[in-house]
Amino acid sequence: MTHTPAEAQAETEVTRRGFLASAGVVSSYVAAGVAGFAGGAVTASAVSASSLCTQSQLRAQEQAATIPFFGDYQAGIMTPLQAYGTYMAFNLKSSTGIDQARSMMQLLTDDAARLAVGKPTLPDGDPYLATEPARLTSTFGFGPGFFSKLGLAGKMPVGFGELPAFSIDKLQPEYSGGDLVIHVGADNPLTVAHAARQLTRTANTFATPLWSQTGFNRPQYGEPTDQTGRNLFGQVDGTVNPRSAQEFDAQVWASSGPRWFHDGTCLVIRRIQMDFAGWDKLDDTKKEASMGRRLSNGAPLTGTSEFDKPDLEAKNAHGLSVIPAFAHVRRANTGKDTEKFLRRPLNYEDGLLPSGEPNAGLIFAAYMADIQKQFVPVQQRLADLDLLNTWITPIGSAVFALPPGARRGGYIGEGLLG
Ligand code: HEM
Repeated sequence: MTHTPAEAQAETEVTRRGFLASAGVVSSYVAAGVAGFAGGAVTASAVSASSLCTQSQLRAQEQAATIPFFGDYQAGIMTPLQAYGTYMAFNLKSSTGIDQARSMMQLLTDDAARLAVGKPTLPDGDPYLATEPARLTSTFGFGPGFFSKLGLAGKMPVGFGELPAFSIDKLQPEYSGGDLVIHVGADNPLTVAHAARQLTRTANTFATPLWSQTGFNRPQYGEPTDQTGRNLFGQVDGTVNPRSAQEFDAQVWASSGPRWFHDGTCLVIRRIQMDFAGWDKLDDTKKEASMGRRLSNGAPLTGTSEFDKPDLEAKNAHGLSVIPAFAHVRRANTGKDTEKFLRRPLNYEDGLLPSGEPNAGLIFAAYMADIQKQFVPVQQRLADLDLLNTWITPIGSAVFALPPGARRGGYIGEGLLG
């Protein structure tokens, strides 16, 4: 069935109204006496007036939305992906000992807690930029050098340390390593830039900047949709991920090893460059075979919907595996519950390469309790065989241990530095 633009608009309004009703927006709308919501019949002018008002109300709500900073876990991990994000890494200055590191984390915690509720940091010279938190989260983690430089090597989490070298790696120092990571995410790019600047100013007193990587996902606002977002190869990316509290407990939050790390997690960041000239030469069948999933909706080649379980045993009429042996999802799925983790990536786009192709790819960010046990075997399998390697190259790599969340009056990393 085809729709005229007017019909499509009316349908959009109906959907949006349902969404707003559940969000509790309609009552204030009706109270304001706006035609179209009080009565049954909706005129064309009422539709467009309501559309404008609805959209601005919705947008204001989105920009005011906050994610609690204090809690058992750091924010920005379980938080549904925001539309924009930045990861920034620093190396501790030689003058930074354990006392200075403690001060740094106390100040960063204070900055982040204020920013999370739409308040400026104490030294903020541009406080108006703090007023739209837009689900802002600031998350902190420590690299291997943080532990060794501060004499804390004995307190490193189990399985934590640099990754082994992989044959596919072409790592560049400007995107690799770091003693401290700060990750800022929000649904507003101005909010991200402002928060990053505030936190960087504090960190710069104690550490020198090493790299910064900024990226994006599709915006979360607008019509709600059940389909997961896409990466720059157009693939639905993020389907197989922990979602329930139980899955987070099993895969992400640490419950053993040093006490300070309980309810913390590890972060692996891989900057992965995409070869668009090569990818563009493939037809959809080849693209789908390399992944083992459909481009249209992310369904496995053996299913019809995104969340169908891939059937790795299924064969086609020629007796060949429907999801090929070299497909990314077959290689990434080791079949072991102990080798699962959270993927929370950002797409990046940094202008053009000399060839004229986009300098773009994926800031792959994965969170797991134990890097050695959960992540390394998966990355090793992908390095050994994955057709996707033909068009992707890891050019940056870093690992961090992220402490648990802070209670009000405490600070991130208190269990380690206190
Ligand atoms: C540019 C690089 C990459 C791209 C474009 C990419 C893309 C995808 C896509 C589209 C899926 C299928 C949908 C989903 O479940 O999210 C997927 C699944 C997956 N990827 Fe990647 N990926 C990349 C790198 C990596 C890396 C570096 C790892 C880990 C070392 C990884 C691990 C996984 C895992 C564990 C799954 C789920 C497999 C399953 O159980 O079905 N990916 N990836």
